[in-house]
Amino acid sequence: MTTPHSSWAENYDLIYTESFGGFYDALTHKTLDIIKNTVSVPAKIVDFGAGTGRLSLPLSLYGYEVLVVEPCLEMLIQLSQKYLERDLEVVNFNGKMQEFEVQSDFDMALCVFTVLLYLLDENELRKSIEVAYGALKIGGYLLIDIPSRDIFRDFKVNTEVIKRSVNVSYVHDDIYSYQENTEVIKNGESFNYLDNFKIKYWDKNTVLNCLSECGFDLIKDLSDEYSGTGSSYYIMQKL
Ligand SMILES: C[S@@+](CC[C@H](N)C(=O)[O-])C[C@H]1O[C@@H](n2cnc3c(N)ncnc32)[C@H](O)[C@@H]1O
Repeated sequence: MTTPHSSWAENYDLIYTESFGGFYDALTHKTLDIIKNTVSVPAKIVDFGAGTGRLSLPLSLYGYEVLVVEPCLEMLIQLSQKYLERDLEVVNFNGKMQEFEVQSDFDMALCVFTVLLYLLDENELRKSIEVAYGALKIGGYLLIDIPSRDIFRDFKVNTEVIKRSVNVSYVHDDIYSYQENTEVIKNGESFNYLDNFKIKYWDKNTVLNCLSECGFDLIKDLSDEYSGTGSSYYIMQKL
């Protein structure tokens, strides 16, 4: 079964770096600093929708005990390869966050960089938030972002390395169709990647209410620190 990102996972890092450059790096450093200021080593962190390990790999290198949850096998393979190159072991669950079952022993959970928009209905949203809640110790933290409608738009990137065209079109009930059509030029050779999947816009208050109904308390609104990302960021705590 193909999942979002499977066709271009091997070039995901390159495509994101080419698309967002220094802004992407700065965002990563800011997020790592926030995590380090929230829980100190030794601590257990679960990274829901870990992608290729943008956050989980540096966190493992800092000494956190990290578990990654990622439904796209090809993304997980990229992540695992990076761990292997550093002689690190990776503990993973290859599945969706709403399918994850775990004992409540994590100090912090991450659900960041638009993971929410892959959840396509209220049941998936509630189940995912219940899972994040269930994974945490009492007093544990969740870092989550809620993408605004601003990021649901077409864009193009043209560099010497990539020609990227993203088309985002409204389907119904806040569901959009996301189409990726990207050419990567490497060593004079050109590779084309196509991807097409559904994403959903979530109203901020719907998500915040669901978090609160599931037992989370809002500790910090970090949205000002993340201005320009198109998402609101929050630290929640398990009561
Ligand atoms: C834009 S990437 C962000 C990756 C990573 N969190 C980061 O900060 O770089 C979104 C990731 O969420 C994953 N994803 C999609 N649906 C998911 C779900 N239901 N549960 C967990 N992860 C999901 C995708 O496969 C993708 O790797």
